[in-house]
Amino acid sequence: MKVAVAGGTGVVGRWTVSALRDAGHEPVVLARSAGVDLVSGQGLAAALAGCEAVIDVSNIAGTKAAVVSAFFEAVSRNLTREAAVAGARHIVALSIIGIDGVPYGYYQGKVRQEEVLRSSPVPVSVLRAAQFHEFAGQYLARMPGRFVIVPKWRSQPVAAREVGAALARLATGSPPPAGELAMSQLAGPREENMADLIRQVARAQAASGRGKRRQVIEVRIPGAAGRSMAGGGSLPGPDVPLGTQAFTEWLAAQVREGTL
Ligand SMILES: NC(=O)c1ccc[n+]([C@@H]2O[C@H](COP(=O)([O-])OP(=O)(O)OC[C@H]3O[C@@H](n4cnc5c(N)ncnc54)[C@H](OP(=O)(O)O)[C@@H]3O)[C@@H](O)[C@H]2O)c1
Repeated sequence: MKVAVAGGTGVVGRWTVSALRDAGHEPVVLARSAGVDLVSGQGLAAALAGCEAVIDVSNIAGTKAAVVSAFFEAVSRNLTREAAVAGARHIVALSIIGIDGVPYGYYQGKVRQEEVLRSSPVPVSVLRAAQFHEFAGQYLARMPGRFVIVPKWRSQPVAAREVGAALARLATGSPPPAGELAMSQLAGPREENMADLIRQVARAQAASGRGKRRQVIEVRIPGAAGRSMAGGGSLPGPDVPLGTQAFTEWLAAQVREGTL
């Protein structure tokens, strides 16, 4: 099956592309580096020709609600419209566990993305995942400098590889009935403390010579978003499927393979 992957060059996008390929499908990467701009729509219609499903794992790095909302709104409107024109039968989008309970700017953009997807003419499945194991490295990359401030944050992180595989399975399986949006979740095997994860990755990067020594400082963020992150608002519900690779196993593999 030909499946478009919006954001197919990103952290989870690369795993999604390889999971599709491993299962014998034909992934089509939609990214600016592949000649497609999901915000302006440039190159999108031509790239979607013949695609039976579309997976959206595109992303914008930012924390301002207005900026992030504008990005996901534009991407979702363009993808749903052009997927319908191309005759695709299923759109799968990646979201995040707890976005509606944690009033944080980036999450407000993800809520907007889900709202736009609800009016898609093509059936939509949304997978809400926990933070990736890779998130600790992404956080460090976005916070240059000696001191790294991390909110007190309970999370149950999952390997991006397992999220990519779940997205590929969803997209190539049966879509929900027309007019319905199917929601599911995926988290990792263990609850962790985000500052500890970021500290471990910072230490491993410094030990391997791939980064400077960093000091990770955990703070309780005031306000509703901080209370919710510290209080478990990002944790999965009781019956959520769990990935198998724990953060420590993932980190040990990165160190062994030199891929941190
Ligand atoms: N990181 C996490 O822990 C986590 C957890 C749960 C869910 N999620 C969700 O997973 C999704 C992917 O996150 P990620 O961290 O894997 O993303 P990422 O590594 O930042 O990759 C972003 C992707 O989007 C593409 N992109 C950005 N702007 C574009 C544009 N205007 N047109 C076309 N392509 C564009 C990028 O390619 P180009 O730069 O080449 O355009 C890249 O392929 C996001 O929706 C995020 O909310 C993330």
